[in-house]
Amino acid sequence: MLDLSYRPRRLRRTPALRNLVEETQLRVSDLIYPLFVMEGDNQRQEIPSMPGSYRYSLDLLVEEVKTAVSLGIPAIALFPAVPETQKDRHGSESFNPDGLIPQALRALKAAAPEITLITDVALDPYNIDGHDGIVEDGVILNDETVEILCQQAITQAEAGSDIVAPSDMMDGRVGAIREALDDAGYTDVAILAYTAKYASAYYGPFRDALGSAPKAGDKKTYQMNPANAREALLELELDEAEGADMVMVKPALAYLDIIYRLKEATNLPVAAYNVSGEYAMIKAAAEMGWIDGQKVMLETLLGMKRAGADMILTYFAKEVALLFKS
Ligand code: PBG
Repeated sequence: MLDLSYRPRRLRRTPALRNLVEETQLRVSDLIYPLFVMEGDNQRQEIPSMPGSYRYSLDLLVEEVKTAVSLGIPAIALFPAVPETQKDRHGSESFNPDGLIPQALRALKAAAPEITLITDVALDPYNIDGHDGIVEDGVILNDETVEILCQQAITQAEAGSDIVAPSDMMDGRVGAIREALDDAGYTDVAILAYTAKYASAYYGPFRDALGSAPKAGDKKTYQMNPANAREALLELELDEAEGADMVMVKPALAYLDIIYRLKEATNLPVAAYNVSGEYAMIKAAAEMGWIDGQKVMLETLLGMKRAGADMILTYFAKEVALLFKS
């Protein structure tokens, strides 16, 4: 016999004991369900690189969101698939009050008033160049872009968005959007800042879903270098000072240390974005029969919570909710 005064396995002996000492829980009420909206009627198109994820026309989007409500999902994040013909150099469709997102917001507020509506503030789905900002001679113009982002945020607030989420990574946009919203009377609309958003290859399937890949160049002059962690803390300081209500780390899986660092450094709620490429990897390996997709999904999301995420944006939200219900 070993002479051990402490045997950690004592508390792992039964499911009841394991539950008792469990430190982290994944709950449906922590999940935000990102959804893609497109034009048309009665349309539901599966995204090839994101099996189980779809672009919905408005009518079917409303049905999907009602299902999300019935499953206890507290929030959705909306992304538009904008026809190429509506795109221009300044992303002016982004602040069209009759655009796809404002229409969806109005329909959803009427049909499912209890769910929280989050909208992305950035130009890439609307911009002919596929960049989050205005491009001139290959350069992304910061301050000119921020002006448009403010108009976009106001248009979304007007149509019923509860939380605007700037994902563009322009400097100073959180403060400018806060001021614009307040001046327009939307003091209750919150800002979820994409605080540490990295220039990541994990966004590939999302860009397929929206047809929003950059036509030229990459996003490295505005999205962060994956090598940097302290810079995320600098972005956090700025977003806090500018009035962010919540901060986000994106992607999540390869950036769990960043989630942890932000959580240590702030008293604001921290969100993690389990992005499209992370979703696609699990789906693909599960389809090949190489991993147990459900278990890997739950373990991955739990890891994000353990790292410090208060909430997780995930394309798995509905699948998790269905699983927990059964
Ligand atoms: C655009 C935006 C992107 C995502 C969310 N908002 C893509 C990008 O920055 O190129 C990615 C989400 C995902 O991959 O799931 N501003």
